Amino acid sequence: MIRAFIFDLDGVLTDTSEFHYLAWKRLADEEGIPFTREDNEALRGVSRHESLRLLLKGRTLPPAQFEEWAERKNRYYLELINQISPRNLLPGAVEFLQALQKAGLKRAIASSSKNARLVVERLNLLPWVDVLVDGTMVDRSKPAPDLFLKAAELLGEHPEACVVVEDAEAGIEAARAAGMRVIGIGPYERVGKADLVISGLNALGPEEILRRLERNA
Ligand code: G6P
Ligand code: MG
Repeated sequence: MIRAFIFDLDGVLTDTSEFHYLAWKRLADEEGIPFTREDNEALRGVSRHESLRLLLKGRTLPPAQFEEWAERKNRYYLELINQISPRNLLPGAVEFLQALQKAGLKRAIASSSKNARLVVERLNLLPWVDVLVDGTMVDRSKPAPDLFLKAAELLGEHPEACVVVEDAEAGIEAARAAGMRVIGIGPYERVGKADLVISGLNALGPEEILRRLERNA
């Protein structure tokens, strides 16, 4: 029996994945490293440091320089998200959270991002969730299960009672490793390993989603 929904943030509730891309692209251009939107797909849901390792494609940097690059990308990202507001919510996000609340289901956000609290505050989402877990609260990022397990613990629920909503392959892997059901948002090639794939939070209401999950179980 599902009693809680745990949402990823970037690419699920808001469109900040584009800002992550633009910030990495600015850094890559400055350093003369080829980096395309396609390359960026592999960075979805992945921590800042792991993202930089992927961007470097096997090239290594001395530790101080590695840190400087990661910090510079974060400065660029913060400049971009400085302007965000509830306009940057994805269609149906708030309505979905409201419907869950009305149905008596618990809600959490679990994001690899160390900036998640700032983003959630700017989007005015805090009133709609019971728990927020971000990249500052666990040691291991997705695809490790830690963020989702922490969210379940803070919600006071067992993993089997939680369903995760994710747009990233690393996030789907993390949800599975946590022993949770998972709904994928996005193209089948990226999220096809989820229990249910939807096009966005405006596609189906929570009740229909739960019905389909039960049917697929
Ligand atoms: C999310 C995004 C990733 C990002 C990660 C870390 O999972 O999907 O693209 O790299 O958070 O974000 P941060 O804000 O801590 O650099
Ligand atoms: Mg995401």
